[in-house]
Amino acid sequence: MTEAIPYFQNRTCPYHPPAAYQPLREAGPLSHVTFYDGRKVWAVTGHPEARALLTDQRLSADRQNPAFPVPFERFAAIRRVRTPLIGVDDPEHNTQRRMLIPSFSLKRTAALRPEIQRIVDGLLDRMLDQGPPAELVSAFALPVPSMVICALLGVPYADHEFFEEESRRILRGRSAEEAEDARLKLEEYFTGLIAAKEKKPGDGLLDELIEDRLRTGALTRDELVRLAMILLVAGHETTANMISLGTFTLLEHPEQLAQLKADEGLMPAAVEELLRFLSIADGLLRVATEDIEIGGQVIRADDAVLFPASLINRDEAAYPAPDELDLGRSARHHVAFGFGIHQCLGQNLARAELEIALRSLFKRIPQLRLAVPAAEIPFKAGDTLQGMIELPLAW
Ligand code: HEM
Repeated sequence: MTEAIPYFQNRTCPYHPPAAYQPLREAGPLSHVTFYDGRKVWAVTGHPEARALLTDQRLSADRQNPAFPVPFERFAAIRRVRTPLIGVDDPEHNTQRRMLIPSFSLKRTAALRPEIQRIVDGLLDRMLDQGPPAELVSAFALPVPSMVICALLGVPYADHEFFEEESRRILRGRSAEEAEDARLKLEEYFTGLIAAKEKKPGDGLLDELIEDRLRTGALTRDELVRLAMILLVAGHETTANMISLGTFTLLEHPEQLAQLKADEGLMPAAVEELLRFLSIADGLLRVATEDIEIGGQVIRADDAVLFPASLINRDEAAYPAPDELDLGRSARHHVAFGFGIHQCLGQNLARAELEIALRSLFKRIPQLRLAVPAAEIPFKAGDTLQGMIELPLAW
């Protein structure tokens, strides 16, 4: 057993797990970290153990459970509201998820591909007209998923500066007050939007939910507002980080990128490997509701459990040479989208966006390169989704 390492740690390289977590990898599959408030929390780094625990009903995602861990100070208000889907357990979770599954199915997502391609092409046209150089996060990585989720939900993209900023303050604000203020602003925005849609319906998922679930009483107004917020925030920040960090990582691995350019059929496997390798959602949390024996240890009821995806996805027993990017490998079974009942609802959509965005970017601009040395490019801290803050590119 190692000394409990303080959580969180920053990455030293944007695409590798924090070097300070190395002792956790060596101690695995279960060890401990210490949170900012002094709480000792289990850290699960073994791939089979993580998958077993993420499907274990004795671990709860209910953020209103008084024993649910608070990883950072700005999440201190986490218990104030009931967060649908991601923050509730079955059977409540199952009821909410089943309402949404048809809208995120493989078939519905495949039908969105032409629209995604149109959005991607439009943004690349503009980048090519204006550049070089270009700043990829603002010109491409963020607008692609923002426009896609707006189209899907029926949220006006004209409001994107507002909701991108409030999402940033929720995910990366300086304090609990700032995160709470941003949450309230988004809540107010969606309350207004839903009221407007009730008077004048459109044709997005929110409009369907108003018609089929709000009017029938299956969802309360508060639940619908919070659900809309989750879909919007989860739907754009995550994918945006994958596009920016994925592009940076490919440019830093020119041999792998050359293979990908030479064989378009490699793209789905490449996206899977990038998801594994980058593990941008690097710290899922649960609380135990009963004692659980696993890996020769006992997780006690009320213990907090952290799943650092970047370490789980680099378990040598699951992936040979795990620290190497290998676009040709089968990276299936990674936990970059989580695992179990909360496994990412938007994963089909995210895959489609990543495939189309990366393929089109490197096809339209084959000479793409970093505009400044890699070491000068800012990336995000370890207490949020991992990704590039800016990505200056030239061609
Ligand atoms: C590459 C991009 C994405 C990554 C890496 C990602 C990652 C994740 C992860 C790790 C979880 C599980 C959280 C947990 O178990 O506590 C999750 C859940 C979720 N994601 Fe994603 N996500 C991505 C894109 C999206 C998109 C495009 C949407 C679209 C709306 C979305 C919506 C959701 C929702 C609603 C949940 C909660 C599901 C539930 O609790 O049943 N995500 N995501």
